Amino acid sequence: MITYPICHKDDIPENSARGFSLEARSGEIAFFVIRKNAKYFAYVNSCPHTNINLEWVPDRFLDINNELIQCSLHGAKFQIEDGYCIFGPCLGQKLKSLEIRIKENHLQLITND
Ligand code: FES
Repeated sequence: MITYPICHKDDIPENSARGFSLEARSGEIAFFVIRKNAKYFAYVNSCPHTNINLEWVPDRFLDINNELIQCSLHGAKFQIEDGYCIFGPCLGQKLKSLEIRIKENHLQLITND
């Protein structure tokens, strides 16, 4: 298990998301973290429809109500809590979740590489 520093937990405001990219041993990981109700959720930044990045401008991963993750290309919508697609061309598929933890007020990404 390897941990990688992401950011201070307060760098992501409540009901928002932020994109990151870091160099892991196995290669670059592009991902984003969402903070909702004081919980954090992390997913690989790749839409299951065509494997492109989800955002159209930096850090814009959520829909207008900040209730769902939205892909910018064809509008697929995913639940924040589990990455499950509930609308759009990849209905029923899921974003790839990543394991994160908070240590001393900082978010860390945990990988198996
Ligand atoms: S690429 Fe994401 S919905 Fe088509």
